[in-house]
Amino acid sequence: MIEVENLSKTYSGFRAVQGISFHVDKGEIVGFLGPNGAGKSTTMKILTGYLPPTDGKIRIAGFDVVTDSIEVRKRIGYMPENVPLYTDMRVNEFLRFRAELKKVARRKIKERVEIVKGLCHLKDVENKIIGTLSKGYRQRVGLADAMVNDPDLLILDEPTIGLDPNQIRSVRELIKDLGKHHTILLSTHILSEVELTCSRVLVINRGRIEASDTPANLTKLVRGGGSILLEVRAPSADIVAKIEALPNIEDVEIVLPNDGEWVQATIFGKPGVDIREDVYNVVRANNWPLRELARKKATLEEAFVELTQD
Ligand SMILES: Nc1ncnc2c1ncn2[C@@H]1O[C@H](COP(=O)(O)OP(=O)(O)OP(=O)(O)O)[C@@H](O)[C@H]1O
Ligand SMILES: [Mg+2]
Repeated sequence: MIEVENLSKTYSGFRAVQGISFHVDKGEIVGFLGPNGAGKSTTMKILTGYLPPTDGKIRIAGFDVVTDSIEVRKRIGYMPENVPLYTDMRVNEFLRFRAELKKVARRKIKERVEIVKGLCHLKDVENKIIGTLSKGYRQRVGLADAMVNDPDLLILDEPTIGLDPNQIRSVRELIKDLGKHHTILLSTHILSEVELTCSRVLVINRGRIEASDTPANLTKLVRGGGSILLEVRAPSADIVAKIEALPNIEDVEIVLPNDGEWVQATIFGKPGVDIREDVYNVVRANNWPLRELARKKATLEEAFVELTQD
């Protein structure tokens, strides 16, 4: 659905995007992640034909964004970073106006507007002036606008920015629903959202792609992704010595040294080896009172930090 080859964008001498290549297949929900200024919005504006690339080849549904921009725009629903809404229009009026602008067939306009109002839960506010809506509802109007021409591909630039946790959840559910019938590329800084919605993640940093993988695979890259948290009452030195004597152990770190009291340790095993049973056997053999033995799961946030921090 999206094919990007060697895309670069230079803003008056500054290389914001530095020769990136990636693809998004039909039906995927791909999270586009990266720190502030990484080049996410720039890339999205180029994909949607709002900004010309400095170099590179971009195809959307087989059409070149530069030479076939009309065909490309017909197939894309774009929700930009700062949703530009007409704040003195009513929701109904605005969506009809946008449908006309996007050349939705006259006889279809009413039906499409009804459908997107339903999808985005806007029926309650359909006659309200957009300027009087809360931020969450405005975001939904932006989403409804992006979908009014029934595009195959949705490009959403931080669709949940500034929303409260309830609204984030409801927009997330909406995106998941939309993902059943649309291909979606979305940027966001809310990584828990990505773990819950995206089948794949692209990480961009300083204009270069750092990773492209499933959220699960990215978290496996993190050091200590499969580490063990142990909390026992035993001298720290004993814990380190006896656990380190086991096979398949890479490192033992004392988190909370407090001899004679409860001690927390993080135990790093060799990659791919489950060391929990061995650790438990040491605890039992030494009669250490045990309060916790748990596998620590690395988060996408940790993977993000490792990939994007220098
Ligand atoms: N019109 C412009 N003129 C000059 N530089 C620009 C322009 N637009 C963006 N940039 C620069 O290009 C870089 C990438 O910006 P971009 O908006 O694509 O980042 P982003 O990944 O979307 O960041 P954020 O998470 O903050 O939205 C930044 O260094 C930014 O300052
Ligand atoms: Mg941005």
